[in-house]
Amino acid sequence: MPLAWYSPQPERQEIMNEAFFDKKEYKPLDRVDGRLKVTGAAKYSAEYPLPNMAFAVLVGSRIAKGTIKSIDSKAAERAPGVLAVISHLNAIKVPGYQPKGEHPSEPSTNGQPLRVFFDNKIVSNDQPIVAVVATSLEKAQFGASLVKIQYTKEQHKTDLEANAGDAKLAASAKKNPKSPTADYERGQKDAFESAPVKFEAEYVLPTEVHNPMELQSIIAHWEADNKLTVYDKVQGTKMTQKNFAKEWNIPEENVKCIATFVGGAFGNGLHNWPHETAAIIAAKQVKRPVKLVLTREQMFTMVGYRPRTWQKIQVGATKEGKLVAINHQSIGQTSSYEEFTESTLMQTRMMYASPSVSTRYRILPLNLATPIWMRGPGEATGAFALESAMDEVAHAIGMDPIDFRLANYTESDPDKNMPWSTKYMRECYEEGKKRIGWENRKLKPGEVRDGEWLVGYGMGTGTFGANRNSATVHAELDKEGNLVMHCAITDIGPGTGTAMVQIASNTTGIPTDKITFHLGNSEFPNAGLQGGSSTVNSVGPAVLAACNALKEQLITMAAAKGNSAFTSAKPDDLMFDKSELQLAGKSAKTTLADLFKQNNIEKIETTNESKPDENRNKYSMNAFSMHFAMVHVHPFTGQVRVKKIVCCADAGTIVSPKTAESQMIGGATGGIGMALTEDAVMDHRFGRYVTKDLGDYHVPVHADVPDIDVYFVNKPDLLADPVGSKGLGEIAIIGVAPAIANAVFNATGKRVRELPITPDKLI
Ligand code: MOS
Repeated sequence: MPLAWYSPQPERQEIMNEAFFDKKEYKPLDRVDGRLKVTGAAKYSAEYPLPNMAFAVLVGSRIAKGTIKSIDSKAAERAPGVLAVISHLNAIKVPGYQPKGEHPSEPSTNGQPLRVFFDNKIVSNDQPIVAVVATSLEKAQFGASLVKIQYTKEQHKTDLEANAGDAKLAASAKKNPKSPTADYERGQKDAFESAPVKFEAEYVLPTEVHNPMELQSIIAHWEADNKLTVYDKVQGTKMTQKNFAKEWNIPEENVKCIATFVGGAFGNGLHNWPHETAAIIAAKQVKRPVKLVLTREQMFTMVGYRPRTWQKIQVGATKEGKLVAINHQSIGQTSSYEEFTESTLMQTRMMYASPSVSTRYRILPLNLATPIWMRGPGEATGAFALESAMDEVAHAIGMDPIDFRLANYTESDPDKNMPWSTKYMRECYEEGKKRIGWENRKLKPGEVRDGEWLVGYGMGTGTFGANRNSATVHAELDKEGNLVMHCAITDIGPGTGTAMVQIASNTTGIPTDKITFHLGNSEFPNAGLQGGSSTVNSVGPAVLAACNALKEQLITMAAAKGNSAFTSAKPDDLMFDKSELQLAGKSAKTTLADLFKQNNIEKIETTNESKPDENRNKYSMNAFSMHFAMVHVHPFTGQVRVKKIVCCADAGTIVSPKTAESQMIGGATGGIGMALTEDAVMDHRFGRYVTKDLGDYHVPVHADVPDIDVYFVNKPDLLADPVGSKGLGEIAIIGVAPAIANAVFNATGKRVRELPITPDKLI
């Protein structure tokens, strides 16, 4: 029975290595919602045509710090169709707003989320300060153009490097000395100083902006005075429900959040933002549903970003390539009102077997909006420094960078001092080398040419915690064998519904076209955020539990009807084969229709929760990736063409090979953007971005993206969760940018330590 490996096992890797794991089991499946998406039938947050809808447009501040002196809204109020001009002067009181410093933190950031329309303070440029609400979008836009605002300007600070001296330890570090933000030390303090080979460098990652295709949007609808429905582009329907219930001081069950389809998010839906509250206030004030869609420009200033981060790294090694010490420090920017932190330095603590490691993580509050996690948050930033530095040290000692990494391979987690639940990076090194053509790489840079182009090869590794949260799934099976499931989880694009349908089909034998997975609604059973690569690891096990519970009900029903073969059967023994229920290894079978008829029922149902277990205290659980890049660099123009990328991932079970491959391709594409093009450039005289649309802020387009070859180790990690998955979303991007930077060095001998690697940095 191929399903055997589904059962949780107490032992370690050996079990998972067994041949009983059949990779052919999960077949590539087209997205269950693919047709809806490509035909435009999938409804995004702004696409619910509610009756009597009004439209809001936000006006942002033109200064980065100061106060609002006056708002002249007379012309706007008189403009055709304008229903209200809302600002701190006339906004209704939001009951959840507290005086400064007393506001409860949102889970995602520490501090005081921006209270829109609360007072006259300006803390960042383009901070939303006025909403114009009208009967059409155009009328609201016209009204917004008529609002005149005067400011009292104060000196702002937006420049990370210029203000680096003010960087500080995050509150999260003070609270918890074990947190990723706390100072960390292992081994010998001065080990670096006495290392035979010493390397030190600084790296800078610019501000990057998520820029998903779908603009952030919300329709806020007060169905009654204390009953709110939001169609909202978010990554957590339950998070949104909780936050707005708290903000409006109403019971959670009175808030409904619908996010059936999300057109990409990459992390900017992991926090509720001021524009959402602005729409909710507006809806309350005009007593109509209000739709608010951010402009592309507002996507740069109102819904988070990957913070600009400065890093310094010191690597000490022996001449033979054994690491002696790594000291890694970083400063990331945050807003003046929330402390956003991320795990920039975690990878440095656990990736390599360095006896001495220290990390120092600092944040710098500036007159900017709050950043938020962006795909591979923290780790992708840290990996740029660490994996570039590893390449630089390998070069300094004349060693192949893969051999250097293998010489410092960790067989257990040197940070937590625990065994890995699973780690199959050796397979990734082997396979990646082969696929990229590593044998064509020369140790000495600038040695390989293809016509007039310089050719280079590079690689970078990534890791991310195999996160798991509790999740609940409701499942219903009818007499025709249709399986319908519900869960509040969102799908921001990876194909969650498809993955869950595949897990259910694989567990039950029910064909995928008879299974439906409904998601993206806070009224469905509980699930956490779609973030941190945790969905398949969290919701997958709940699907598994629900399917097994249904099977148990069927077994009990069959046994009760005198079918003795079923009496001692276990869920793993029972499989659907078309409409028949068969017991493995026995000739016993029955049909679903008969079983339901005998019991006089139309359907069976179950609700099951699945949560992380105690294995998490015994094993260190990480997904790993390794990215290889082959680039061409033009010696005269400095143009970089990425010619090939190979992504290797040890992410546990791959439950949906097709969507998983797409996810890796998407992550690698994001990595190309990180390495070569993405840069939110700020004019610090005004504290305002100058690249604030997709014409100036460059994300890779088809012409920039080469063949991306994806390899999955595809061995289950049953210690992490019963599906065996370790998560994929983040590791798809973590390590890509350094792989490209390292390849550029290998091609040219030029080391670029400040991303993006634009042609001017190479000539
Ligand atoms: Mo991701 S940054 O967890 O959406």
